[in-house]
Amino acid sequence: MKQVVILISGRGSNMQAIVEAQIPGARIAAVIANRPDAAGLAWAAERGIATVGLDHRAYPSREAFDAALAESIDAFSPDLVVLAGFMRILGADFTARYAGRMFNIHPSLLPAFPGLHTHRRAIESGCKLAGCTVHFVTAELDHGPIVAQAAVPVLDEDDEHSLAARVLKEEHRLYPAAVRAFVEGRLAVDGLRVRQIG
Ligand code: GRF
Repeated sequence: MKQVVILISGRGSNMQAIVEAQIPGARIAAVIANRPDAAGLAWAAERGIATVGLDHRAYPSREAFDAALAESIDAFSPDLVVLAGFMRILGADFTARYAGRMFNIHPSLLPAFPGLHTHRRAIESGCKLAGCTVHFVTAELDHGPIVAQAAVPVLDEDDEHSLAARVLKEEHRLYPAAVRAFVEGRLAVDGLRVRQIG
């Protein structure tokens, strides 16, 4: 059984999609949030999943928070760490520690629009397609080998909220599928390229 630890900051709808997918061979060992009041934590706890709230504001520096977070994650001996709407930038030591075993989901077709306000930027740039990307986490923000992507159309009448909702639906399908591919050992990483094998 592969142990999966999921990190969230808020509602955790991607975390919920992964839990509800009941991926064979995967156990959601814990859900950890950097905000103790994150709605997703209560949802996970109600389902008997171990939860940890680690308030980043209680730490004097990014390094101190990263170290406490790593300690908390490692207590669950994860095979895979899944960032699901986790809104903290992580330091290079932290990303190196989980190299090759940490995923993030970003609501754009990377490498376009890393960072914040992706939907607004996609609309303002006149894109006809938007989407989401699951990638391995490296020290560079919203960079790293791309595991999977899904595209959706940008409609003439879209604003950032309608586009975000259309993309989020795809996130909920894409993320469990990517976690499943990892758990089944079907991902071969070669530089920035990830092949699905088997
Ligand atoms: C998602 O769109 C994710 O891609 C982005 O933040 C949102 C988090 O949503 N980084 P949720 O907490 O998973 O509902």
